[in-house]
Amino acid sequence: MTIGIDKIGFATARYQLSMADLASARNTDPNKYSIGLMLDRLSIAPITEDIVTLGAAAAEKILTDEDKATIDMVIVASESSIDQSKAAAVFVHGLLGIQPFARSIEMKEACYSATAGLNYAKLYVSANPQSKVLVIASDIAKYGIKTSGEPTQGAGALAMLVTAQPRIIAFNDDNIAQTRDVMDFWRPNYSVTPFVQGMFSTKQYLDSLKTVWTEYQKRQNLSLEDFAAFCFHIPYPKLANKGLNKLMDKTLDDKVRAQLQEHFDSSIHYSRQVGNIYTGSLYLSFLSLLENAQSLQAGDRIGFFSYGSGAVSEIFSGNLVDGFKNMLGDSQQKELDQRKLISVPEYEMMFFEEADLDQDGNASFIDYDTHTFVLDSIVEHQRRYKRR
Ligand code: HMG
Repeated sequence: MTIGIDKIGFATARYQLSMADLASARNTDPNKYSIGLMLDRLSIAPITEDIVTLGAAAAEKILTDEDKATIDMVIVASESSIDQSKAAAVFVHGLLGIQPFARSIEMKEACYSATAGLNYAKLYVSANPQSKVLVIASDIAKYGIKTSGEPTQGAGALAMLVTAQPRIIAFNDDNIAQTRDVMDFWRPNYSVTPFVQGMFSTKQYLDSLKTVWTEYQKRQNLSLEDFAAFCFHIPYPKLANKGLNKLMDKTLDDKVRAQLQEHFDSSIHYSRQVGNIYTGSLYLSFLSLLENAQSLQAGDRIGFFSYGSGAVSEIFSGNLVDGFKNMLGDSQQKELDQRKLISVPEYEMMFFEEADLDQDGNASFIDYDTHTFVLDSIVEHQRRYKRR
């Protein structure tokens, strides 16, 4: 039985910040962002757009009524949780109208958790071949204003439907994971923004890639020539590009090198315009590859490098399925271009706004633009969502 991704959808916030504007406000050479980090724009989510609204919007784009009547598990992977107890997946399940006899849970391990979600979905479908599992990777990446991480923020969600006989990509059973207990990036419960050891985190990312890749090659007896493309977790595209260069040693055939680089450029096309969306960013890179690469073919093996600070990393692969192009919807580009451009002061006000709760736990919000769903109000500490 083959198991993999049958459908994939993406949603991001309706507002965007230009990196050139941010550079000017921070007295920084704009080339540092556009060339040094390879970022052009960032998605900015207002307070009424959160991991629930983004996740539900991404799923709504791909699900039919029949899917909603048959999905039997909803997994939301996130590190931007809106509740310490209730899973975001329960809100998403309700907003989408998924049939009641489904399991709904939330998973966390920094930017790695969507990969754990896909693994759980794969195991579940292998035991229950008729099942459909909805895996959502949804995050809002926030760093402090004027910190070195600020230009690497972003917001967005990927929704993936995992089934048997998938129509986009079939997973191979070749996952190699690694855990190392490091403090490169973390966010204690009392802090809205993370603590980051920036340079140390980039070293951990690249060194994890190297060690997991070495083990992967040893155990799977595969080399880079076996891959048509490699997708990476993308905190910012320049680091992923360094990752690709780490995999491509001097002995690599020039034709293979050129193809991997061309496909890599397609895979960062959307991230350049969205920023870091934490656990969804690896899967945004996959969607970007699918929608923007010219020479991908059914049967091609795609590699995935998942990295979540803390740190857990994993390499695995899948093969594109015959007819995969028919499963892609409209390109994301139109929606990305339609986002409203906001100024730096507007971004600073909007992105870091917090709910102004009264003594009974009620709050209302400005009518910001959001995707398909909106956080409408908070009533006695309960978040109330609705379709727009
Ligand atoms: P920085 O201050 O931008 O570092 O911080 P920099 O001064 O070294 O500049 C960055 C690059 O821009 C360098 O390129 C400069 O040379 C270049 P490199 O040497 O690396 O090739 N540059 C220029 N290029 C052209 N024209 C110029 C110019 N000036 C400089 N004028 C840092 C970078 C990553 C530390 C910062 O962005 C940060 O703290 N980011 C947040 C942490 C992060 O993204 N870490 C990545 C690995 S950890 C991870 O991926 C997990 C994560 O997603 C979270 C999770 O798992 O939940 C973050």
